Amino acid sequence: MQPENSSSPAVTGGWSGRFSEPVSELVKRYTASVDFDRRLAEYDIQGSLAHARMLGACGIVSSDDVAAIERGMTTILAEVRAGEFVWKLDLEDVHLNIERRLTELVGDAGKRLHTGRSRNDQVATDVRLWLRAAIDEIDGALRSLQCALLDLAGEHVETAMPGFTHLQVAQPVSFAHHLLAYFEMLARDRERFADCRKRVNRLPLGAAALAGTSFPIDRERVAQALGFAEVCRNSLDAVSDRDFAIEFTAAAALTMTHLSRFSEELILWMSPSFGFIDLADRFCTGSSIMPQKKNPDVPELVRGKVGRVNGHLIALLTLMKGQPLAYNKDNQEDKEPLFDTVDTLLMTLTIYADMVGGIRVKPEAMRAALTRGFATATDLADYLVRKGVPFRDAHEAVARAVRHAEQAGCDLPQLPLAQLQQFSPVIAEDVFAVLTVEGSMASRSHIGGTAPTAVRAALAQARRRL
Ligand code: ARG
Repeated sequence: MQPENSSSPAVTGGWSGRFSEPVSELVKRYTASVDFDRRLAEYDIQGSLAHARMLGACGIVSSDDVAAIERGMTTILAEVRAGEFVWKLDLEDVHLNIERRLTELVGDAGKRLHTGRSRNDQVATDVRLWLRAAIDEIDGALRSLQCALLDLAGEHVETAMPGFTHLQVAQPVSFAHHLLAYFEMLARDRERFADCRKRVNRLPLGAAALAGTSFPIDRERVAQALGFAEVCRNSLDAVSDRDFAIEFTAAAALTMTHLSRFSEELILWMSPSFGFIDLADRFCTGSSIMPQKKNPDVPELVRGKVGRVNGHLIALLTLMKGQPLAYNKDNQEDKEPLFDTVDTLLMTLTIYADMVGGIRVKPEAMRAALTRGFATATDLADYLVRKGVPFRDAHEAVARAVRHAEQAGCDLPQLPLAQLQQFSPVIAEDVFAVLTVEGSMASRSHIGGTAPTAVRAALAQARRRL
């Protein structure tokens, strides 16, 4: 970051010579945002071009000025993209940096660009443009992860694993069914982002500093040029509220929460005590002391990074809560949390899709776990109910049978028929079909159930939804 040569405030700031002494160096560093908001440069240029063309079309600046601004911006865009643009801390933020460079390049036309506009509506526009593009990228990344889940699920419709409640073996489920649960979570996440995008996609420009402008501007024209679906209806609101960033971050926090839950499962499943899966080596690290270790670092980090995104959500909510209308400098603090939320989420989603593609499933270990924990006890109770036993009595009879099997050191299907019959006389030879893992799964064949027939239908439906 190069300090600018001239230190006169009238020259360094974007404001007039109303100040009698320059801003102190420390305050300059404290108030400057160019270190991070330069990331908005391309959107700032887009917004400025749309604004300038509108000024031209409305006869507020000349067509020569518009042409000069377009020329200058083409150069600036190339400089920014090539990493050659010289960002100056003295010029505070991305907006003043670009405007000053424009004036250097094209003279007075550059000074006319800011007619009928303020940095307040300018920055709100830039952030919305940037976030809209980020949402579209996130949607693509979510979709890719959904595809990876479907690919893996497609191979494991018949793979039985214990479903858990309270992390205790509950009932057998298809591994594909388990993966499809995450597909559904991600589908809702995409809906949330799509919904949030509608409110992001509104144009603040034209609100100027807070009250609108005295120039005969055409906001609809700018909105159309920038692809905004609507214009913000109130100038005070347009420049001041960051609710769109807050709701985006809330949606991101939920997505990260879903991925954190999945991560927790991957970590458990990869532990030798479970041994249900193995993650590809490229997602794991070893230990510097314990030679046998293969640690699931990536899912652990995902679980950890939720904290960061949740923190950003709280930061943005807190940033907003005490602000009177309209714009306050507090809002400059919206960018870093928002940028980091997007970076964290995008990187996490991208790595996750790859990681899911590299999961090696160990069906034998899942099957073995199913033989410990009486996973088909509910099926036995349901069987008794079908034979006329009231559910509560059936529940009690099976509980006693489980206790007996536990003492005998075996699972329910291993108990001889005569022993099972001690717990209920209605039990007959056909009970063993019910007590198998396959029988248990196959019987849950309604929509949303874990039967392979239902899961296959769910998979097909999921593919159509993508
Ligand atoms: N860098 C500022 C921000 O991010 C731009 C708007 C500044 N407006 C102002 N009145 N100082 O919010």
